[in-house]
Amino acid sequence: MCPAISRDEWLLDPGVAFLNHGSYGATPRAVLAEQERWRALMERHPTHFMSEELPSAVRSAAARIAAFVGARPNDLVFVENATGACNTVLRSLHLAPGDEILLTDHGYAAVRKAAEYVARRAGARVVEAAVPFPLQDAAQVVAAVSSRLSSRTRLVIFDHITSSTAVIFPVHELTALCRAAGVPVLIDGAHAPGMLSLDVPSIGADWYTGNCHKWLMAPKGSGFLWVAPQRQTDTHPLVISHGYGQGFTAEFDWIGTRDSSAWLSVPAAIDFHERLGGTKLRERNAALAREQSSLLARAWNTERGAPDALTGSMATIRLPLREAATAERALALRRKLFDDHRIEAPVNAFAGALWVRISAHAYNRPADYARLAACFHP
Ligand SMILES: Cc1ncc(COP(=O)(O)O)c(C=O)c1O
Repeated sequence: MCPAISRDEWLLDPGVAFLNHGSYGATPRAVLAEQERWRALMERHPTHFMSEELPSAVRSAAARIAAFVGARPNDLVFVENATGACNTVLRSLHLAPGDEILLTDHGYAAVRKAAEYVARRAGARVVEAAVPFPLQDAAQVVAAVSSRLSSRTRLVIFDHITSSTAVIFPVHELTALCRAAGVPVLIDGAHAPGMLSLDVPSIGADWYTGNCHKWLMAPKGSGFLWVAPQRQTDTHPLVISHGYGQGFTAEFDWIGTRDSSAWLSVPAAIDFHERLGGTKLRERNAALAREQSSLLARAWNTERGAPDALTGSMATIRLPLREAATAERALALRRKLFDDHRIEAPVNAFAGALWVRISAHAYNRPADYARLAACFHP
């Protein structure tokens, strides 16, 4: 069992049912205090801190998150966030006219835009695999990606856990498929650290990015990029600085003067996560999301977006509304939930219907979801 945890450990507004850990996380007071400690150290003697203390402190924090995701310390670097990591990989590609970057229609919109930008500059193009939704099983995802692989595919990008549809993609099978076709793989695991138990190298991808500021609850601006050894020479940060030419980690560890306190507080976030139960916390959160999404679907006489096997601590439920499923309507519903009911939960238009996404973390209780259930009727 996970220890009982008070919501007071976070700064979250007590009047709000916060069902959206997924978007930006929520950092506990203890981890924010650690971030303040690092900032005080930095400002006490800025020059000494930057030149003498920071390099080893960054590497030691990187080693801690590397161990947490099963990786070797020197195969992993910190980045600002998953968007930045995907841009980093895309900007490191050498594309030729006619080349293709393959993504899925469940992918994160900002990453798709970055892919379009890079493709357009090279005369290449972005190809989208349509993954069915709601999903019944993992094989549907593999079939969708397989159907759009071609001899011109130069990179495949897919999420580990999708953003608006909250589905856990079968990353091992998808990577094996792409490797068999000789195509490199970038996995956008923005939601994975702290939600799933991870052994990143065993997946076999070329690049894997994760955010520490979502489910691991580190301060915002703490993402990582893991790079397979054979890709490290050709993967360069978006900002080229003093470390250029000095090796993979040196290039990423110093990208100009910045506040690195979010990265340095990642070990404290891992400690907090472990104190709350680690694996048991992740299982408890997933069980809560599965149970509560089923209850909501039953109460509204609708359906969930994915079965338990493809669901972690986020889930989507179709809203019992027969109206045009547009992005504008989805946004209006989200605002209404907050303004009228003090519920924070994203609503998305997907596959011709409106879906609400719920998140479950340590501070969530069944009563939070009961409040949401009462907002709609079958
Ligand atoms: C799959 C996926 N990728 C990328 C991101 C972007 O994360 P960030 O804003 O931290 O870069 C998100 C955010 O929700 C996401 O769900």
